[in-house]
Amino acid sequence: MAPIIEVKDLVKKYRVGSEIITALNKVNLKIEKGEFLAIVGTSGSGKSTLLHMMSGLERPTKGEIWINNVLINKVKEKDMATFRRKHMGFIFQSYNLLPSLTALENTVLPLILQGVGKRERTKRGKELLKLLGLEERMRNKPNQMSGGQQQRVSIARALINNPKILFADEPTGNLDTKTTIEIMELLTKAIKEKGQTLVMVTHDLEVAQYADRVIHMVDGMIIKEEIVKGGVQVNG
Ligand SMILES: Nc1ncnc2c1ncn2[C@@H]1O[C@H](COP(=O)(O)OP(=O)(O)OP(=O)(O)O)[C@@H](O)[C@H]1O
Ligand SMILES: [Mg+2]
Repeated sequence: MAPIIEVKDLVKKYRVGSEIITALNKVNLKIEKGEFLAIVGTSGSGKSTLLHMMSGLERPTKGEIWINNVLINKVKEKDMATFRRKHMGFIFQSYNLLPSLTALENTVLPLILQGVGKRERTKRGKELLKLLGLEERMRNKPNQMSGGQQQRVSIARALINNPKILFADEPTGNLDTKTTIEIMELLTKAIKEKGQTLVMVTHDLEVAQYADRVIHMVDGMIIKEEIVKGGVQVNG
């Protein structure tokens, strides 16, 4: 079977004044459907840049990105948002919830954009929040929830479309160890149940142990790859 994501000889350069910064330097990567891949590396090694390229948020300087057999370099800017909405979900370090909406309303936001009716939206939103242990917090607004609860809402929002691919950039970056373990366990359970693919950037090597495979980046290159043998857990 073809990989769900394939990156070929990917180069990304940024120009800052007269200086050229090479953020990605010929990256090659294949990610299988249902795989959980963690990307680790020091600050500035190109992790977020790689994630942005794969999710179509930014265009590469050179190289190819295939998502679900579509060469996304060729997808027009105006079609990209729809393509992303159809195939992808996003989880960020800062939860990016809308402050005036409740947990349930934030969760179902992507469904409104898709034109799903209110009854169906509410049903799916409630199911997902329940799965993530937020049954008692559905009517709360973000400022009435803890960081971990807010991150669970943002995970619910990312999962509500049932996307084939989930991208996460430092999703546990603002959380304490105990909450990090809770979030990682909920997240891995949710994606494995549905066979979803997760690509997660983290600088936390213990969080990376939840993945099936870990790639290490230095200076815009993948320098090492490890297959994680199951059962390794974060120490509480
Ligand atoms: N929009 C931009 N303009 C110019 N340079 C950029 C831009 N975005 C990233 N860079 C540079 O590209 C390199 C890679 O950045 P990137 O954000 O991918 O690193 P990272 O591995 O995600 O780091 P961190 O762990 O700090 O988030 C860095 O040197 C950064 O300064
Ligand atoms: Mg980053």
